[in-house]
Amino acid sequence: MEILTTNVYDKQPKEPIYDRRKESEAFGKTRLGVKGLVDSGITRIPRMFHHPPETLFYYEKTENNDPNLEIPVIDMSMDHAKVVEQLRDASTKYGFFQVINHVVPVSHLDRLLDVVQAVHELPDEEKKRQYREDILASGPGFGFSSYHDLFEYMAASWCDTISVRLSPNPVDPMDIPEVCRNEVLEWDKEVTVLAERLGELLSEGLGLNSDKLKGTPLLERKGMVGHYYPQCPEPNKTIGTASHTDLGMFTILIQDMVGGLQVEYDGKWIDLKPVHGALVVNIGDLFQILSNDKYKSGAHRVYANPWEKPRVSIATFLSPPFEDENLYGPFEELTSPENPALYKQLKFSDMLEKFMARNASSMSMVDHFRL
Ligand code: OGA
Ligand code: NI
Repeated sequence: MEILTTNVYDKQPKEPIYDRRKESEAFGKTRLGVKGLVDSGITRIPRMFHHPPETLFYYEKTENNDPNLEIPVIDMSMDHAKVVEQLRDASTKYGFFQVINHVVPVSHLDRLLDVVQAVHELPDEEKKRQYREDILASGPGFGFSSYHDLFEYMAASWCDTISVRLSPNPVDPMDIPEVCRNEVLEWDKEVTVLAERLGELLSEGLGLNSDKLKGTPLLERKGMVGHYYPQCPEPNKTIGTASHTDLGMFTILIQDMVGGLQVEYDGKWIDLKPVHGALVVNIGDLFQILSNDKYKSGAHRVYANPWEKPRVSIATFLSPPFEDENLYGPFEELTSPENPALYKQLKFSDMLEKFMARNASSMSMVDHFRL
């Protein structure tokens, strides 16, 4: 049992003495993630999930009261020039937008959310078999984990995740749990087409040829993660996902209607309100660099889910393969003597290295490469 003592002199409740490593190991050993804790009936969350007050955020504290600050919902069936312009404006201002009429049937998105939820709700024994300590490491192309130990400096977050490697070197379909296998394979095809299309439109938005990314490894890697944010018994003590930017070119996200995702703009956090059937797209760090800061890799985060219904979201990250040896820097067409390159040349693996070594100072990822 936790021992909380109060010092009469400073009125601050003292933190109980605890061993992060030990608690974290015990949690990992359950192989059942945060959902396992909820299922066990806990009413207080373990200390390892407590975030320091200065980095805490929660659902009551939204700053979204300015009607001019809304992440745009863009109808992809509008005429071409208009779509290009709206995608460009949103990528420049927020680095985030939602798209509707994106051609992927809404029923497929709903179904995918349902089956990803079903994987997280498989019987304990089956989930334990899928559990992996390190979800980012290569190895089997499918795994289930909780990000409790990914960044040791930081408290754990209230979220479990399944991870599927779509390309290159795709998962053996037989390694995908049957309950979601067909839907994941279908999504793989759909997201590939959609990513290519978005790559064209976003290239055009920069004034480049629409086929600028074609034939390059820039969108070759597709990694899919399916997050599950169960109701948190103490949502004001922890978070769902810490503030971060995504590393690669862009991310395509499906979210259910529960809500919780927030985007940073001008020092404020604004809610990204769920729109049924829409896909959320955000620019990643590498695309910001290639665009020479024309596009912005927007910081985002998710608050701990206070609601009874679990929140499910599915992110597909488009990037070069981790082992890509090419050097990248701002597109030449976008630089000139008056508009010099703002970044040095880098390999995608250099970015990965910085990402893995990031620490509490939370220096912006792209700033590591700024000239
Ligand atoms: C991510 C992410 C947001 C969400 O996986 O990188 O930001 O809504 N997910 O789960
Ligand atoms: Ni993200």
